[in-house]
Amino acid sequence: MTWLITGGAGYIGAHVVRALAAAGEQTVVYDDLSTGSAARVPDGVPLVTGSTLDGERIARALADHEVTGVVHLAAKKQAGESVARPLRYYRENVEGLRVLLDAVTAADVASFVFSSSAAVYGMPDVELVTEDTPCLPMSPYGETKLAGEWLVRATGRATGLATASLRYFNVAGAASPDLADPGVSNLIPMVFERLTEHAPPRVFGADYDTPDGTCVRDYIHVADLAEAHVAAAQVLRSRPGRDLTLNIGRGEGVSVREMIDRVTAVTGHDLAPVTAPRRPGDPARVVASADRALTELPWKPRHDVQDMIRSAWEGWLRLHPEAAARP
Ligand code: WQD
Repeated sequence: MTWLITGGAGYIGAHVVRALAAAGEQTVVYDDLSTGSAARVPDGVPLVTGSTLDGERIARALADHEVTGVVHLAAKKQAGESVARPLRYYRENVEGLRVLLDAVTAADVASFVFSSSAAVYGMPDVELVTEDTPCLPMSPYGETKLAGEWLVRATGRATGLATASLRYFNVAGAASPDLADPGVSNLIPMVFERLTEHAPPRVFGADYDTPDGTCVRDYIHVADLAEAHVAAAQVLRSRPGRDLTLNIGRGEGVSVREMIDRVTAVTGHDLAPVTAPRRPGDPARVVASADRALTELPWKPRHDVQDMIRSAWEGWLRLHPEAAARP
């Protein structure tokens, strides 16, 4: 049983590869290295460099490594960027997935785990988002993830491919400093960047209909997210033909202001945040009900927000030693 992980050289992918290996699974990474790094691929794990748009290269990789399961993480994931470049997002995230599924079904691969996103929900007006909450994505990025779920589900029903679409909520932290997210496109690293520049963190909008006026999100440690992929992979292998769609979150909402307060406490920087204008498209609250994942998978998140912030900060300091707070 060998799992091919597309995007396995990326931030989340590198954690999934290690979690699968720790569970005794054979893996091979398929990555175009556009944002991933070969240095993140563990020794002993083969790396095939290529795009999911290259059907022949994928077919060869599936055959060469006798792949029986695929975890598909490779995608463009900047919601803001997708508004300006929708065709690039549809090409990479939807056409790339279609090409991959063509190769997967031709090679009789049995199981397929798909990286989806809470972005499919758009602006849900509920306390806790369940998998039955209407999906009204607000960005082309979110649309491509929802369309991806449709492609995956329809292919599973037509061919018997066992599928699981995992809707990630807000991913943070690192299993080790060298695996930290090198990107600065989400709250925690964006606050780190401001503190490193000795500039105050920015709160994008403090007039939302939430307890402290700032947006509320559901943060999940990347190590817990990786374990959810292992659990889903093992469930699909044991129950062919399964079709799962699962929220991967912790069910706990944390506001931007709370997060920034905790980040500054962990980092030792005591710069008070400033309020900036709202960011277009930001929902006031997106918090998961993870009940279905807890029921369907042998999985339970183990890390809290403090673990996420602390591990992310250790990773940040490894790349930005100048960020350490002055005594
Ligand atoms: C969180 C909150 C910001 C920076 C992301 C991505 C996408 C998807 C879901 C996977 C928002 C606020 C941020 C700052 C701030 N994940 N903020 N000051 O937008 O919830 O969604 O996760 O598919 O990757 O879209 O995450 O970290 O960008 O923002 O006030 O300096 O923090 O406005 O309310 P988001 P985020």
